Amino acid sequence: MLGLKLLTDPRWANIAETNLEEILTDHAWCEQKAAINAINLIADNCEHQDLVDELTLIALEEMEHFKQVVNIIKERGYTLGRGRKDDYVGQLMKFCKKDGSRNNAFIERLLFAAMIEARSCERFKTLSQNIKDVELAQFYHDLMVSEATHYTTFLNFARKYTIDVDVDKRWKEWLAFEGELIKNFGKKEAIHG
Ligand SMILES: [Fe+2]
Ligand SMILES: [Fe+2]
Repeated sequence: MLGLKLLTDPRWANIAETNLEEILTDHAWCEQKAAINAINLIADNCEHQDLVDELTLIALEEMEHFKQVVNIIKERGYTLGRGRKDDYVGQLMKFCKKDGSRNNAFIERLLFAAMIEARSCERFKTLSQNIKDVELAQFYHDLMVSEATHYTTFLNFARKYTIDVDVDKRWKEWLAFEGELIKNFGKKEAIHG
């Protein structure tokens, strides 16, 4: 799925379901961080009008997801806690090459975003297929579809705007790195936990 090297063990969804308040809180902040990431990409690369247009839509959509998750938290009488530390995303951030040209850094940030969208999409699919809560299963199914289009958008912009990065080769390196990294996760009630 989406080129990912390792699929999530469905038992992770059962762990997640034992603490819905925790996974929903973590999820809400994932959406907010995705919006911020899109906004920062716009600010740093505003010479590309099509990127500005499409990432504006993504930022709005991510905040719409944030609102939907917060509404579910409220409806169920839970409390939105503070943002959680995301070690998975921290490790992906470290994998970004930082010693190249401006274009190189731009491409890395697009691949970083595509990677997170791909795994989030896969995690949403795992939740939608394995949790017993019917309302949430449907919600995660809908989000899975949305995040899959985001993944494609980031990857396509990387292919379009690269100057000297071989994007397909570099994307394979990202997938290989992530396939090893994700082996350390899948044990916590967090979207990337
Ligand atoms: Fe989202
Ligand atoms: Fe997304």
